[in-house]
Amino acid sequence: MRIKYTILVVFFVTLVIIEKENKILSRVSDKLIVKQTPQTPLQPSAFVNILLKYNATFTSLGKDFMLMKRRLEDHTVVRDRTRRTKKHILLLATTRTGSSFVGEFFNQQGENMFYLFEPLWHVEKMLTLDTGGTNATAAAKAYREVLQQLFLCDFSLLESFIEPLPVDHITTALFRRESSSSLCEESVCSPFIKGVFERYHCRTRRCGPLNLTMASKSCQQKDHKVIKSVRVRQLENLRSLAEDPRLDMKFIQLVRDPRAVLASRMIAFANKYKNWKEWATGGRIPIDDDEVRKLKGNCDNIRLSAEVGLKQPPWLRGRYMLVRYEDIARFPMRKATEMYKFSGIPFTSQVKSWILRNTHASKEAGGVYSTQKNSSEQVEKWRFNLPFKIAQVVQRVCGPTLKLFGYKFVSSEKMLKDKSISLIEDRRFNIF
Ligand SMILES: *[C@@H]1O[C@H](CO)[C@@H](O)[C@H](O)[C@H]1NC(C)=O
Ligand SMILES: *[C@@H]1O[C@H](CO)[C@@H](O)[C@H](O)[C@H]1NC(C)=O
Ligand SMILES: *[C@@H]1O[C@H](CO)[C@@H](O)[C@H](O)[C@H]1NC(C)=O
Ligand SMILES: *[C@@H]1O[C@H](CO)[C@@H](O)[C@H](O)[C@H]1NC(C)=O
Repeated sequence: MRIKYTILVVFFVTLVIIEKENKILSRVSDKLIVKQTPQTPLQPSAFVNILLKYNATFTSLGKDFMLMKRRLEDHTVVRDRTRRTKKHILLLATTRTGSSFVGEFFNQQGENMFYLFEPLWHVEKMLTLDTGGTNATAAAKAYREVLQQLFLCDFSLLESFIEPLPVDHITTALFRRESSSSLCEESVCSPFIKGVFERYHCRTRRCGPLNLTMASKSCQQKDHKVIKSVRVRQLENLRSLAEDPRLDMKFIQLVRDPRAVLASRMIAFANKYKNWKEWATGGRIPIDDDEVRKLKGNCDNIRLSAEVGLKQPPWLRGRYMLVRYEDIARFPMRKATEMYKFSGIPFTSQVKSWILRNTHASKEAGGVYSTQKNSSEQVEKWRFNLPFKIAQVVQRVCGPTLKLFGYKFVSSEKMLKDKSISLIEDRRFNIF
């Protein structure tokens, strides 16, 4: 809506300016006896050209006119700059929220995209090793600075966190290199030497070690940069990124029902979550346990970030979008379209066909949407894996988070397992 409104306003203002200019031009014309008064409104850029041509003559015609001329020139410059703008997107999530999948929406975009998958993995690893636990303040600062450099195609700070330390900007240790199409491209694929890095596969080709100087060059040649991370705790910590005039930052926060996330983590990270598994079968859950506190901490961080984003403070205006995992799973094509529209990056046919191949999305009249019923079942499958008493604990410590994102509370085992009741409320978070 806001975009439409802006276009309307710009259009109207342009018309008014052109109309005024035409009047002035007629007046001027009369004086100059220039016969060709335009009959149809000129495009601003064409008009600026005429003005430039007659610059010397017009300069003597007064302040108002020069002011008008400058405004039109500025308008043209701003518009051209915007059209060329490079986009920088940070996909913010936590584990088990489908962030790798959503990351692929961007990774698949094509030639003009530079996508990085979890570069902060190295930072977290080293900070944890160094201090034996993460100092949240120090981590937040390091994350922000590394991200800022990476969006500017500078790998030097990230390099200092990679182990073993790259020599001459060459490394074989970049975390999940093969998850970034752009790091496996021909131009970034240094010769593969048989017998030396025999096992180094990079998507469809075999590449030698990664030359980060080459990666940086490739990055600079692309207009759009997308980084996915599950490590940033607070959106607020990234304010200086949003305010960096060299970047056109946008943030997409991906969230999911915390009960489903816990159910998924109990399966995926069985060792780390063995306390929860014990509680699932055994006795009472100690509400002041570290694990429960950690769950609450995670929920609070996610909610606080979303609250900042949805409030749209000036530094974030137009730069924040909230997306629920459940909506992506049910309507992948619709949500991808919305995310691309928000990002300002062209939604290529390559992305569309990737989504069609990897989801149950199907073509329908008037648009492309997923087959809702089946995916809804998939999305709510966790309800049959998670005991009611665990769901209750999540509801107790993550209540405000559930409410904010529109996830319905369950009041009994029966309600939890009742397929006819959806726990996902319809919500629209972003009004553009
Ligand atoms: C137009 O005239 C002004 C004032 O004489 C001058 O400062 C400016 O450089 C001129 N612009 C062009 C494009 O000739
Ligand atoms: C955490 O890091 C900050 C910033 O680097 C530092 O000022 C603070 O002393 C650190 N805290 C601890 C407990 O190490
Ligand atoms: C890495 O790439 C850069 C830029 O293409 C090149 O100048 C440099 O020689 C490469 N380094 C190695 C060790 O091949
Ligand atoms: C639902 O999706 C599953 C795959 O997740 C598929 O095997 C099944 O056939 C689908 N069922 C219907 C009714 O479309």
